[in-house]
Amino acid sequence: MNTANQEIKPVTTRINENGNIEIGGCDLIELANEYATPLYIFDEATIRSITKSYKDAFKNYPKMRMMYASKAFMTKAMCKIMAQEGFGLDLCSGGEIYTAQSSGFDMSKTLFNGNNKSYDELNMALDLGIGTVSVDNFFELALLNDIAKSKNKTVRILLRITPGIECHTHEYIQTGHLDSKFGFDLTQIDEALELIRDEYINLHLVGLHAHIGSQIFEKQVYYDEVDVIFNEIKRIKDKYNIELSEINLGGGLGIKYTEEDKPISIYEIANTIIDSIRTHAQKYNIDEPYVFIEPGRSIVGTAGVTIYTAGSSKKVPNGRKYQAVDGGMADNARPSLYQAKYTVEIANKPNEKPVEKVTIAGRFCESGDILAKDIVLPEIEEGDIICFYNTGAYGYSMSSNYNRVLKPAAVLVNNGKSDIIINRQTYAQLCESDVIPDRMNG
Ligand code: LLP
Repeated sequence: MNTANQEIKPVTTRINENGNIEIGGCDLIELANEYATPLYIFDEATIRSITKSYKDAFKNYPKMRMMYASKAFMTKAMCKIMAQEGFGLDLCSGGEIYTAQSSGFDMSKTLFNGNNKSYDELNMALDLGIGTVSVDNFFELALLNDIAKSKNKTVRILLRITPGIECHTHEYIQTGHLDSKFGFDLTQIDEALELIRDEYINLHLVGLHAHIGSQIFEKQVYYDEVDVIFNEIKRIKDKYNIELSEINLGGGLGIKYTEEDKPISIYEIANTIIDSIRTHAQKYNIDEPYVFIEPGRSIVGTAGVTIYTAGSSKKVPNGRKYQAVDGGMADNARPSLYQAKYTVEIANKPNEKPVEKVTIAGRFCESGDILAKDIVLPEIEEGDIICFYNTGAYGYSMSSNYNRVLKPAAVLVNNGKSDIIINRQTYAQLCESDVIPDRMNG
């Protein structure tokens, strides 16, 4: 069965009676008029269709726990949706912890990840009742134990390991000692275990955690990941008589940015994970563990689009046509950072034939600020509304105020209604943190 991560457009996308693109029952041109552009638009039905697919696909494994990787897109409203859908949250900074807590999220269903969590962040995590901490390295083991001890608390922890599986979109390589900044090398696990057993008595180790990559199209890497983790669990059981009952497989499931992308469905990935867990549990005579996954991109990527207004254009003599829009690399860093490709349409001309090759340029002061290179579209005129699909994940979350351009607003659309979930930044907010030293005011 196909799932929404295998589609380019949000599930509610259609061309309406005005001849415009509509998402969540809302005409994109009307949204542009009401909220201005650039604008991030999130289709609630697509997010919920994905979370429903995850729940359905894993329903035969009752010890499954889904954690949304909030780094993909996080606002208080997103936390509310995840709470309603029964998902936990994978958090990776003080800011994400604060957002979750201030949205009223049940903090016992959160996990704190990261390779260099600070004293203040860990302190805050414990004060706000974080569910579990995935400890990344020896430094953090000592630091976290000290903080927990000072509060007279015991913290549930996972050990983040580097499983030696590196994913690329279509291929993967395995190495014994992957060169990665994240997690304990497999050869360091015993030392960590002995420290926890003998010294760090405020840490309660419940399992192992790994994350093998992002925008993955392969099932086999998940099978291999389970294999590596189970081998460790079995080895730890035999050597230390410790039975770890939780494994966290991280995130990574891919989405379809363009026709060339062929992501697998949530059912395929679920079946692979469940099969490999059951096979390994039987083979090693280990109780079926609690299994956590942390999908980010696949939950929110397809649900989000960004609309821009077409402004100036330039035809290089005997060269490219550049069409500039009112946003760019500060609201979507992915094209300039990763050469990421997107599917683009003109929201007020969805039925017109593509006739010209054009490069969509951003408005930021940098030649590399190109959102889409050499794509074929109907003729663009000033004022047209340009829609970029699949910007829901790692768009807003990686946005900046480069050139002191304001961050766009975000709306959630559903059944013909639109609700602001992020207000457009104001110039006053932009300068809010600036301070002129007194000595300069004289
Ligand atoms: N868990 C951990 C520990 C992670 O590091 C990540 C992503 C996830 C889960 C979620 O992975 P996802 O399901 O979203 O693939 N900025 C890049 C993506 C960076 C992903 C970092 N870690 C991009 O825009 O493509």
